[in-house]
Order: sequence, then C-alpha cells, then structure tokens
Amino acid sequence: MTKVIKNGTIVTHDLTYKADVLIDGGRIVEIGPDLKADTQIDATGCYVMPGGIDPHTHLEMPFMGTYSADDFDSGTRAALAGGTTMVVDFALPSPGQGLLDALKMWDNKSTRAHCDYSFHMAVTWWGQQVFDEMETVVKERGINTFKHFMAYKGALMVQDDEMYASFQRLAELGAIALVHAENGDVVADLSAKLLAEGNTGPEGHAYSRPPQVEGEATNRAIMIADMAGVPLYVVHTSCEDSHEAIRRARQQGKRVWGEPLIQHLTLDESEYFNKDWDHAARRVMSPPFRNKQHQDSLWAGLQSGSLSVVATDHCAFTTAQKRTGLGDFTKIPNGTGGLEDRMPMLWTHGVATGRLTMNEFVAVTSANIAKILNCYPRKGAIRVGSDADIVVWDPEKEKTITADKQVSAIDYNVFEGQQVKGLPRFTLTRGHVAVHDGELRAEEGHGQFVKRPPKGAVSKALSSYKAITAPRPVGRSGIPASGV
Ligand code: URP
Ligand code: ZN
Ligand code: ZN
Ligand code: ZN
Repeated sequence: MTKVIKNGTIVTHDLTYKADVLIDGGRIVEIGPDLKADTQIDATGCYVMPGGIDPHTHLEMPFMGTYSADDFDSGTRAALAGGTTMVVDFALPSPGQGLLDALKMWDNKSTRAHCDYSFHMAVTWWGQQVFDEMETVVKERGINTFKHFMAYKGALMVQDDEMYASFQRLAELGAIALVHAENGDVVADLSAKLLAEGNTGPEGHAYSRPPQVEGEATNRAIMIADMAGVPLYVVHTSCEDSHEAIRRARQQGKRVWGEPLIQHLTLDESEYFNKDWDHAARRVMSPPFRNKQHQDSLWAGLQSGSLSVVATDHCAFTTAQKRTGLGDFTKIPNGTGGLEDRMPMLWTHGVATGRLTMNEFVAVTSANIAKILNCYPRKGAIRVGSDADIVVWDPEKEKTITADKQVSAIDYNVFEGQQVKGLPRFTLTRGHVAVHDGELRAEEGHGQFVKRPPKGAVSKALSSYKAITAPRPVGRSGIPASGV
C-alpha cells in the first residue's frame, strides 16, 4: 500500500519547497510534483517536516527510590501525539551492574514502543567489566553514546579519574561522551547547609544548584574530553555559564555540543517560589529552571548554532511520587515531563515569535540530533530512502496545554495553561499514520530499535584496561562535526 502526502510545503533543516512525498514500505520512495498512490494524506496549508527526535528521555527508569511514571507505552504515545517520532532513552546500570545486563532490561521495556527508539548507555561506575563491555555495546549493539553523571553524589556520580578513563576508552571506540554537568560535591555540600538552616522546601533545590556548579562541571568535562580525545555532548545545558564554556570550546575547534531543554527555554526559576508545595516540587529537576538572562543565552545559542539541539529530558513523576520529598527537597524525585509538548512549545515560542526560522526548528528538533547521534539521513531528513518518520505540521492549529487531555501518565503538566499554536495534523512513524488530527492510532510494538554505529575511531587502541591512567597526548577524535 503506497501513500502520498500531497499539497504541503516540505521543510527540512536546509530547504523549503513545495512537493508531494510518496511512501512505500515505511520509507520515502519519491519526492516531486503530482505523485499518485493508493491512499492520500492532505497537507494543504501544512509544513511537511521530519518527525521530531527527542535525544533525551528516561522511560520507566529506576531513580531516587522510585520509577519514572511514563514507560515505553505512554511515553512513545505522548511523543507521537506531539510530532516526535523517535526517542533516545538512557539505559542505566545500577552501580556494579554490567552494561549488557542493563541493556537487557531496556530491551524488555522497549518492546512496547509505538515509535522508533535508540539508547544511550550510562556509565555509573568504572571497572574492567565496563571497559570490556563497552566494545560490545558500541560494535554489536550500535550504541555510540555514553552518559556520565557528574552529580548525584553517592548514587550515580562518577569521579574525574573514572570519567577520564571512560572517555579514553570511548575515544578508541569512536563513541561520544555525554555528561550531566553539575559539580556533585558542591551540590551535596550546599544541600546539607540549606537543610541544616531549615530550608527544606523545593526552592532549596534551586539554591543548591546555582549556575556555577553547572559552569564548573561543563568546563571540567570539556578539558577532560579534550585530553582524552573524545567528542563531548553536554546534556540539559541550562545556563550561560555552561553555554559559555561550550561556545568557547567550539570556537577552539573542539567537538562539543550543547542540548538545552524546552523547559529551560520557556519556564523560569520563579516556579520554585510558588507557595503551593506541589506546584514547585513538580518542577524540581536538575539542573533547575534559571532566570531570564540564562534563557536569553540559550535562545541566542540556538540562533547562532553554538547550541545544537532541543530535548526534554522527559523523566516524569506523579504528584504522589514528588511528595516523598515533603520536608526534605533532596528527596523530591528529580525530573519533569515534556515529550508531548516540545515541538508545539518550541514552534510557539521559537518560530512564531521570529526567534527561529522553520529550518532552524527542524535542525534543532531532528536533523542536528540525527547527525550528531549518527542516524542521519535515515532519520531527521525528508529524502528518498529515509524512513517515513514525518510530521504534517499545521501552523494554524491551536490548543491550550492541560494535563486533563495529555497522553503522559502523570497527573499534571509543567506547561499547564500555555496556549500553543502549531501542532501536528498527522504524525507518521515509518509510514504508519499514528496521529490524525489529534486522534491517536499508534500501535504498541511498532517501534524498532535504531542502531547508531560509531563514526570512526582515530585514537590508538589502549593495550589494556587501566583503572586510572595518566594524561597522554592524543589528537582530538576525527569525528566530523557534520556542520552542527
Ligand atoms: O532532573 C533530572 N534531569 N532527572 C532525570 C535524570 C537526569 O539527570 O537526567
Ligand atoms: Zn542528567
Ligand atoms: Zn536526563
Ligand atoms: Zn504499523
């Protein structure tokens, strides 16, 4: 059964033009005028864009004594409802657990996915087993990205020597290092002081994680990555202090990318001073929301290209789960939702305001992500041969965001009451129409795992595992920046 998307305007990261798109077997097979097919999708008045890719989600993740509430079922349905057709989730080994063992858990959970997906691997501890298994993860499993937590002391945090050893291993495998850049030691100290002074409410979370802890960690990660010769991707870049470090590194020719979240772009720190404890706790995430100056810096980064992608870090907890932190902000599960809202919120606050062009919108919501993560042009493109992951975007369609109507399993929405203009008319996942005018027709299990091979290693192979290695002069990885 062939399908054709007719009468729309194709918008990719580099082009805007009128043409029909012919789909067969889940792929784009032809682009041009007057194409015919078995069924027709009318895109009159709409933009035909690559489906969004969210490079940062935590679905059904064990974290802070509980599990994030959206799983691969509700999470990927929420994604499709908002025009996102691929998510990249974090496989998270508990400290001491093998990487391959953790991946089995993620393989099991993800069988429910309604859209395509991939994994990043988290490095939560360091040892011979992790060193050895990294090779299988990269070469056999097609996972080329590994996240290191510089925060969450006593839980997921890795030390600098571990990070340096891991980064070197990734360099030789041609993989990319990811960091959650916050100085966990300083956060722990500030948190303890705040609690001792009686500051137990959600605003304490923001006070305990000032922009400097993020700026310091970002600078440190950049320097360690440079010494190890590995490209670096800084997740949830929330402030100028971190953005400045990324900007400078890129100017110096380092392969460093920054990922602001839609939440940090559109919500500010005043949310934590709301008198309603639930309201503030629901917005507790790391890093916390910042002030307007930091927001302006993030928008400027997207405009100039010093920041590359927009994600959600979707890690949703119900109000009941958040309430485990009543009386102690350090026990509030960290994370917010956004999968369903990233595309409409970024369009409304970015494209409709003139801050971003439509092509920049596509770049930061899909094309740049696919290029960095190495699944372009299978994903992130409207091209013959690409997967038919497509959103038919209606710039006139409006709604008010409300938890009552969302797909996500949680009982609130951090964007509650926001009016958005620009929504999917259709969302297609590998040619299958999953969303038609707000009606969800997604299929559990339709989603497939997307392998993302390394781009090519240049560093000399390490002869053997080294728990801690002395700095050695190596060139930077030759992974091409792909213009992002
Ligand atoms: O608060 C956050 N960001 N929760 C999710 C886990 C992480 O740090 O990415
Ligand atoms: Zn993180
Ligand atoms: Zn995260
Ligand atoms: Zn299908």
